[in-house]
Amino acid sequence: MDLRVDTELLQYISLSRVLTRRVLEFAALEGILDIIDSMGQFTGSQFLTALESKLGYRLSEAPRQRMALVLLDFFCEAGVVELGLTGDYKSIDTRSSIEELEVLSEEQRDGEGLHEEQLEFFTLCIESAPEFLRGGESAYSFSKEHSRVWASFLGNHLFRSLRNILLRLMDVEDRPDYRMLDLCCGPGHGIKDILGWYPQIELVAIDFSSTCNERAINKAGSHRRPALIDHNWRGFGDPLPYGSGSFDAVHFTLADPYIPSELREGFYREVFRVLKPGGVLGTLGWSYPDRERAMITDRWVRQQILAHDFAESVCAGWQGFYGIGDTRSLFSRIGFTECRSFFNEDAILTSALRVLEKAR
Ligand SMILES: C[S@@+](CC[C@H](N)C(=O)[O-])C[C@H]1O[C@@H](n2cnc3c(N)ncnc32)[C@H](O)[C@@H]1O
Repeated sequence: MDLRVDTELLQYISLSRVLTRRVLEFAALEGILDIIDSMGQFTGSQFLTALESKLGYRLSEAPRQRMALVLLDFFCEAGVVELGLTGDYKSIDTRSSIEELEVLSEEQRDGEGLHEEQLEFFTLCIESAPEFLRGGESAYSFSKEHSRVWASFLGNHLFRSLRNILLRLMDVEDRPDYRMLDLCCGPGHGIKDILGWYPQIELVAIDFSSTCNERAINKAGSHRRPALIDHNWRGFGDPLPYGSGSFDAVHFTLADPYIPSELREGFYREVFRVLKPGGVLGTLGWSYPDRERAMITDRWVRQQILAHDFAESVCAGWQGFYGIGDTRSLFSRIGFTECRSFFNEDAILTSALRVLEKAR
């Protein structure tokens, strides 16, 4: 399997640089950079208190508090603050980090075009951040009203390429008795790709939100063997409506950060249960960068993950990216074996793609 063409293409993107600039501009406009300058040295909780008292942010609730702390981690990566050994933060250089990002090379401008849908979505999210952080409603949910926004964002070039790499890594067999589950199928981009690569398999797609599935149904309808779209699931925490050992493969992309932490292990145990022995789980989704930089070493990848996490925090149900260490020990506790992943091999793929196997 030759994945070089796809991975080389992904290496040259500049999304991270543009996203970094957007988040820093948000912080400047909101006056957060001035607050950091005026504090000099501070703890995480002093940072939260300052945002509450000076900007009227409502950070007592977990999603908003987490969002502010992700921003602080992002500032560390972007060179705005430094985290000392004692756990205190120190303001370093709040202005020149933005100036440094002003000049984009031609290659980076091309990258901006390539990532139009992502930039559009993240920009909308960042624009909603001031209101959300002051106690406003979530900006986007998985309701019919927002289905267009999700369909555009989730169909972007990077995610499409990653889904296609993942599907090949999963080593699916294109035969009529091969059964795959597309779990949390959303607007149906995965369905289209799966049936494009493997037109003969039996595909079942499920999501807790039936409004998103309407699009999925339309997409699936144009294929020779349409996917069966299942509405019988109330979402994370609800058992999957299938018998044990029902599927050869489960495809689960970009939904892990929506699983509440207390339901996560139970959810993946359900995935394990519905897989046949020898079946595979293919996942796509980033991990929160490890502070030790043992696994996600590239600065721009780290910044991109943190900026993404910060921006998508305004969406209903977003829990944030989970740490790599926790995710890996969770999978091994359940009984999965990691058979193919991209740790430390390629910057943009680092921590994003994983194929796990249920032992025979
Ligand atoms: C970012 S979308 C990803 C969709 C699709 N897998 C893809 O790759 O395009 C996240 C998905 O998680 C689902 N989701 C969000 N909260 C959920 C919940 N509490 N229970 C079940 N699914 C949920 C949404 O309906 C949506 O389909």
